[in-house]
Amino acid sequence: MKRLVDSTTGSHGNVQPTGCSDPGFSRTVIQWQKKHGRHGLPWQQSKDPYRVWLSEIMLQQTQVATVIPYYHRFLVSFPDVHSCALASSEQIMAHWSGLGYYTRARNLHACAKRVVSDYGGVFPSEPEKLQALPGIGRSTAAAIAAFSYGARAAIMDGNVKRVFARVFGIDGYPSSKPVEDRLWQQAAALLPETGHAAIQAYTQGLMDLGATVCTRTTPRCDVCPLTKRCVALASGRVDELPVRKPRKSTPTRQVIMLLLVDSTRCVLLEKRPPVGIWGGLYSLPELAWEDGKTAQQLHKKIRKAAQPYADVDGVVPLEKVSHGFSHFTLAIHPYQCTLKREGHLVSEDSHVWYPLHQIRNAPLPAPIKKLLERCDSVS
Ligand code: ADE
Repeated sequence: MKRLVDSTTGSHGNVQPTGCSDPGFSRTVIQWQKKHGRHGLPWQQSKDPYRVWLSEIMLQQTQVATVIPYYHRFLVSFPDVHSCALASSEQIMAHWSGLGYYTRARNLHACAKRVVSDYGGVFPSEPEKLQALPGIGRSTAAAIAAFSYGARAAIMDGNVKRVFARVFGIDGYPSSKPVEDRLWQQAAALLPETGHAAIQAYTQGLMDLGATVCTRTTPRCDVCPLTKRCVALASGRVDELPVRKPRKSTPTRQVIMLLLVDSTRCVLLEKRPPVGIWGGLYSLPELAWEDGKTAQQLHKKIRKAAQPYADVDGVVPLEKVSHGFSHFTLAIHPYQCTLKREGHLVSEDSHVWYPLHQIRNAPLPAPIKKLLERCDSVS
């Protein structure tokens, strides 16, 4: 009789079972992956834990197609964990600019430094040790350990949650604690017992199924290898599972952003505080939005705020830009300001006059970069 260990016990909550509750499940996934899964992704060409780690961090909350060019560019500049650890935070942030979720970049940098200082530049192979490093959660730790070292560890990201919720007919919102615990338990129990190659193909197979077959809106049940087992399909509930998160409407935050462009075509950028949205990146100087201000009052307020950096002449409102974050929407009211002469010299680290024609390389959030690129092309 196979022995199952409760996967929810243990100091890190991820002690893996010693047996497999249903070898047919992993066998089916592995066979399907070998024939129909993805094999040409850049990070699949190497077991180097540094490359695997980098890809897994970039792939958190980001689509494969978006990640690929960032992954290549990052490796050209930082080919190993030592060069990554030695880079400045500005260099790391510039390579992350546009990828979003910038906490990932700050944690990535901190993690590289820890791998160098605590592990001599070699990523540990145990999921528990990986999980103790900055930015590495339980599923990411398992993916790194499985892909790099063939460790027998279960992953559970959004795609895998969807596959499991449908195949096993699991009700309830999958990111709620009781449902998530159940999913982890199921995932640990189903891990294949055989060899490194098997765990890699199985882990990749679950990701591939979730990303290419068992998709959220248009699942391809006609080509799915798990149809015979799929509870959601048998009960006509593919559209209902996984249960969606109860929707809360998100608030909107309004802000004024100043485009101060001087006669040498340099724009004033302001460094964001290290924590909070876009932490550590540069952005445009901001002013609080106040309802009901006349144009004249607004222009006066802008001139005063800009005074340490520039003598503002004309002020022109540009089209409002909205940017959605997970928990609020940022409504940006951009104001382009013409200056009486060149911008004043800035001595602090917090501000910089940046040439507009090089804005592509600046460590800026994507919507701000877009706004400035548009400004560069029209004015
Ligand atoms: N999403 C998270 N990890 C991934 C990987 N290794 N390949 C493809 N998509 C992923």
